[in-house]
Amino acid sequence: MASNRSLLILPGDGIGAEAMAQVRRIIAWLEKNRSLSFELDEDLVGGASIDAHGVPVTDAVMDKAFKADAVLLGAVGGPKWDNIDFSIKPERGLLRLRKDLELFANLRPAVCFDALADASSLKRDVVAGLDILIVRELTGGVYFGEPRGITTLPNGQRRGVNTQVYDTDEIRRVVRVAFDIARARPNGKVTSSEKANVMESGILWREEAQWVHDNEYADIPISHMYADNCAMQLVRNPKQFDVIVTDNLFGDVLSDIAAMLTGSLGMLPSASLGAADANGKRRAMYEPVHGSAPDIAGQNLANPIATILSFAMALRYSYDLGADADLVEQAVQDVLAAGFRTGDIMQPGMTRTSTTGMGDAILAALDKRAA
Ligand code: IPM
Ligand code: MG
Repeated sequence: MASNRSLLILPGDGIGAEAMAQVRRIIAWLEKNRSLSFELDEDLVGGASIDAHGVPVTDAVMDKAFKADAVLLGAVGGPKWDNIDFSIKPERGLLRLRKDLELFANLRPAVCFDALADASSLKRDVVAGLDILIVRELTGGVYFGEPRGITTLPNGQRRGVNTQVYDTDEIRRVVRVAFDIARARPNGKVTSSEKANVMESGILWREEAQWVHDNEYADIPISHMYADNCAMQLVRNPKQFDVIVTDNLFGDVLSDIAAMLTGSLGMLPSASLGAADANGKRRAMYEPVHGSAPDIAGQNLANPIATILSFAMALRYSYDLGADADLVEQAVQDVLAAGFRTGDIMQPGMTRTSTTGMGDAILAALDKRAA
């Protein structure tokens, strides 16, 4: 039976498939216990797609991605594809999905679960209770700007060029997403980050972010911070932030820093959203922030939590199932509080478990909460 909750699953490479298998178990649980139905489809992306089709994402998969209510992506890349041509590297598949689907707003929450506050490289009191969100612009800036390329100059030197470029609307639309999210958070506020001291694109970014504030969201505080200072402040005192909005490249770097504050990359989900259509529905792709971890792939060692929490974000943002998203997130917290840990978040005195073991524990926690 057709449902209005279609999900395209793209496990990708490395640990993607193992993590995704645990999500499928959770979907089955929701279908059985919460009378929900999802229409699932699965296909290839990244190295897996290169091996099968010679390209990191096929037009057929792009077509499916356009039609699905949401895409859930595992991870792409691995040493096997390190030396192939740049234009068909696994990462290009991911970038095409983001770009062609126009997923311009990338939401990267950095939440420190209390049970994991000691796993952070920072002191417990700096990170305990941390709950911030980075909104990264995802379809513009230096990632896609033209001109780009490597050329050889008349004197024999080679030159690598990339272009940082932003237009008014590209900045305003992502800043609006940041304000909308801040508005829905207790004490929401926005920090906009750029390098207006060095870059014209940064000056424009600052002015447009301020414009959006003054004209549309004057009730929500905004401040501006140079990206290098923002990196430093994230490590010094991360709890001073609430929502950070920034460009594609700074967002890439700042979100990795923010991720590490929480104790493990293995815990962090993300959502990439496009513009809302007439019905308020946004095209969306969800993916863990971590990579494909080829060193532990296929060994039932990977932490599936970031992928599971990415699916929870899909429940919240694509299917309007906030209560079910809460339930999944609470089950994850229960399992952590009960001491279950995969290797990446293992601590003394805790119970080490596997990918499937973590899945078992989360399902048991769901059963308990639903009882
Ligand atoms: C990320 C990753 C990607 C990026 C890579 C895999 C292309 O680092 O999602 O943060 O740079 O955007
Ligand atoms: Mg990155």
